[in-house]
Amino acid sequence: MTEFQHESVLAAQTVELLAPRGGGLYCDATLGAGGHARRILEASAPDGRLIGIDRDPSALAAARATLAPFEDRVTFVHGAFSELPAILGALGAKPLDGVLVDLGVSSPQLDRAERGFSFTREGPLDMRMDPTRGETCEELLRRVSIDELAEILREYGEEKFAGRIARTIKERLRDGEVRTTTQLAAVIARAMPKWSMRHDKIDPATRSFQALRIAVNRELDELDAFLAAFPDLLGPGGRCVVIAFHSLEDRRVKERFRELEWTSRLPPDLAASAGERLTPICRTLAKKPIIAEDDERDRNPRARSAKLRACEKAA
Ligand SMILES: C[S@@+](CC[C@H](N)C(=O)[O-])C[C@H]1O[C@@H](n2cnc3c(N)ncnc32)[C@H](O)[C@@H]1O
Repeated sequence: MTEFQHESVLAAQTVELLAPRGGGLYCDATLGAGGHARRILEASAPDGRLIGIDRDPSALAAARATLAPFEDRVTFVHGAFSELPAILGALGAKPLDGVLVDLGVSSPQLDRAERGFSFTREGPLDMRMDPTRGETCEELLRRVSIDELAEILREYGEEKFAGRIARTIKERLRDGEVRTTTQLAAVIARAMPKWSMRHDKIDPATRSFQALRIAVNRELDELDAFLAAFPDLLGPGGRCVVIAFHSLEDRRVKERFRELEWTSRLPPDLAASAGERLTPICRTLAKKPIIAEDDERDRNPRARSAKLRACEKAA
């Protein structure tokens, strides 16, 4: 499927840190076009297995084409990674040797006007990664109050003019003037003070569209559920790699990995009697987040904001 193309970010670094090997069981919880998954399957030849999950049926179709040569070693699942414990349970899977989460949307999701993610392409106000379920962006905009909308724009988009943008969107929505992505982008631009746009290097709609996408797809709830569950899904020495694209995501990953590494500062006998942890649950594999090299950043603009973190479950 050539029209579904997505260049995998930090691919070599991901495989190095997941360290796939023959006989292992891996999960790519954000399969996308299958680029990372293909590398994991190559590195775990001849008999490593992969469970590939995506909430977008068109991504799964593209990944099936990419991964056709490895068909007998892959299980495809349509679902959200917050459901990972239930998905693995239903498959009767043994503990994982590695799990990958490459967050956010794929290039084809952004590029296809009919998905409603892009403010430069006229499309419906949808923005769902999984078009088979959940509330569309338009339904969300109609349901929430002005204050709730302002909170979404402020919290998920760090938008300084959240209040005035929220008020204008709700007014124009009521008047039937906001039906498409480009209409919404124009309303956002009109709501912003002119002077603010003179200094902004990005399109005035960028932050609001990011915020709405995060809210529609409940992206931070998804990530929190994954981060809470993954240690129990890994076997001893199993590894977890997460690639994040903005600080709201990366901060959560960093804090969770740090929490899993934490052990008691009390002397061992006191810690044991207080029921505190004496050994870490997981060990962080790189103290600083891994970022893309210059050549990847030049080639692939998505790579510029990517931060990779990895940890390993204690043996
Ligand atoms: C950045 S792309 C992944 C690209 C992939 N690593 C590759 O190499 O082609 C992110 C994918 O994750 C999916 N996704 C995002 N959040 C998800 C979630 N909570 N559960 C399952 N899939 C999700 C999106 O639909 C999208 O296809």
